[in-house]
Amino acid sequence: MKVLIIGANGTIGKKVTAALKDKHEIIKIGKTSGDLQVEISESASIEKMFKKSGKVDAIVCIAGDAKWDKFDNLSEEDFYIGIKSKLMGQVNLVRIGRKYLNPGGSFTLTTGILADHPVDKTTSAAMVNGGIHSFVKAAVLELENGFRINAVSADLVEDAKEKYGEYFPGHTPVAMDKVTDGYKKSILGKLNGEIIRILPNFSRNLNMGDVFLLKLP
Ligand SMILES: NC(=O)c1ccc[n+]([C@@H]2O[C@H](COP(=O)([O-])OP(=O)(O)OC[C@H]3O[C@@H](n4cnc5c(N)ncnc54)[C@H](OP(=O)(O)O)[C@@H]3O)[C@@H](O)[C@H]2O)c1
Repeated sequence: MKVLIIGANGTIGKKVTAALKDKHEIIKIGKTSGDLQVEISESASIEKMFKKSGKVDAIVCIAGDAKWDKFDNLSEEDFYIGIKSKLMGQVNLVRIGRKYLNPGGSFTLTTGILADHPVDKTTSAAMVNGGIHSFVKAAVLELENGFRINAVSADLVEDAKEKYGEYFPGHTPVAMDKVTDGYKKSILGKLNGEIIRILPNFSRNLNMGDVFLLKLP
């Protein structure tokens, strides 16, 4: 399978790429790193990337920015950072990517725990994650050519514990193999229209229709 991964050199992307690279052809994409570069907040850049990559079997986005700050400090422009990057960046990857996805192919987007359990300073980041969840549920009703679409929504991941741990008090980081399993479920499996939540345990409130990945002892 030919898999295009945006954010392939990031904390999560690196592990997802490593988990797939032996059996699949990976096109690694970054903002500055990788085989090809893209700025997902710009449609022209997305179109240029796909023209270079050609058709693929899976389009995976593990990238997207949003500004973190107190609601009091966030300006309208600050909110547009997340809207243009993590929200519309991923929507545009699907919108434009349909032309470059082989029949039966899949889109895998990335959101995160903040959609369901925001922490301090995340009015913007939580909002765009929630927007992508709604987008996935609506897009699945209309996508053609056997395309599938899912979002992976992980809690704080183990490899980002040092960097972001202080922002997530009481959150137990999720093991990286559990995170990569979530992406595999979307890319290699049959799930469609799902928000694949990767949580360390069942201590949180659950929503009907959630998909969970459990590692039983
Ligand atoms: N870290 C966590 O605990 C966690 C948990 C749940 C969800 N998430 C979400 O998962 C995503 C990735 O997180 P991460 O921690 O792996 O991030 P990261 O380590 O900062 O890596 C981000 C990757 O995305 C690329 N990228 C960043 N901005 C881009 C843009 N505007 N256009 C194109 N590519 C861009 C980077 O390219 P370069 O390689 O060129 O720099 C890099 O490869 C984010 O959306 C984050 O919110 C993270």
